[in-house]
Amino acid sequence: MRGAFLYLSRQQNVRRFMETSPQAQGLTSRFIAGLHLEDGLRVAKELQARGVMTSLDHLGENVRTEAEAVAAKRQYLAALDRIAAAALSATVSMKVTSLGLDVSEELCRANTDELMSRAQSTGSRVECDMEDSGYTDRTLALVHEMHSKYASTRAVIQAYLYRSEADIEELNRRGIPVRLCKGAYREPAAVAWPDKVDVDRNYVKLMNAVLERGSYPAIATHDEAIVGQCFEFVRTRGIGPERFEFQMLYGVRRKLQQQIVARGFRLRLYVPYGDAWYPYFMRRLAERPANVLFLARSLTGD
Ligand code: FDA
Repeated sequence: MRGAFLYLSRQQNVRRFMETSPQAQGLTSRFIAGLHLEDGLRVAKELQARGVMTSLDHLGENVRTEAEAVAAKRQYLAALDRIAAAALSATVSMKVTSLGLDVSEELCRANTDELMSRAQSTGSRVECDMEDSGYTDRTLALVHEMHSKYASTRAVIQAYLYRSEADIEELNRRGIPVRLCKGAYREPAAVAWPDKVDVDRNYVKLMNAVLERGSYPAIATHDEAIVGQCFEFVRTRGIGPERFEFQMLYGVRRKLQQQIVARGFRLRLYVPYGDAWYPYFMRRLAERPANVLFLARSLTGD
């Protein structure tokens, strides 16, 4: 089931059909704030009133032209300016392929540089989402380069990749903040653990490493057992709640989100908006096939 959704997430024809279908857009509201920056900002303000920080993601990936990459950069610059104007505790999350990595590395580097610079001057941060393993080296190289110029970057590491332990040690050594997630793409067994039990075990190992030796890490998971292990680890090691944050996705496990905030820990929600929603939405379905039943019920009015 997971594989089928991840396969569909990469089908360009289905993507075009879905993203232009008015009916399909009605489906997405559980996971996506809306089509426009205003929607993301509205959700960020509501969350801030409840003590929750946000990371705004202007949806888009694998753009094919320079014009699309420049348009994505402008969207992010506008988001950073609006975040500052509204005094929101918000960062932005972007994918390097939305800023043109598939077009050229120079284009992507120039766009990323401009975003990092704006984030630094507005007191925010650019979180560099991690895409499939074909992009890992280039994304991390860009993160390292940006960190040498700006203090406004965060890397993302996926616990399902065998290489991640070494990547995390290097990021920790350089003092680069890390968001640790399990990993959302279809990867071959040559590069990633195929079994969830191994991914979960590695997640906990890497989580302990970033909490102990990292620089303001983000523990990005909805896994209640792992969140519990995090509470226990920071308690026994005397790591205060100001030294890290939890991150979760908009629309996922709202009760667990409330519990984290009620216990006095920091929580940031990843809030996507925009019209290029199809691949993101399909990855959310792949993570929990029960979501399909939930959507089917909402369509039939049950
Ligand atoms: P797991 O999949 O084991 O889920 C634990 C429980 O959470 C499930 O039993 C279910 O109850 C609930 N749950 C999880 N996903 C759900 C969903 N979609 N709908 C409803 N319930 C759900 N990945 C990546 O490859 N690159 C990236 O840059 C990022 N960035 C990122 C940012 C943030 C803030 C988060 C939280 C996650 C990501 N991810 C990501 C996605 C991540 O890799 C992973 O696919 C999902 O978070 C699901 O894994 P969990 O850790 O939640 O555990």
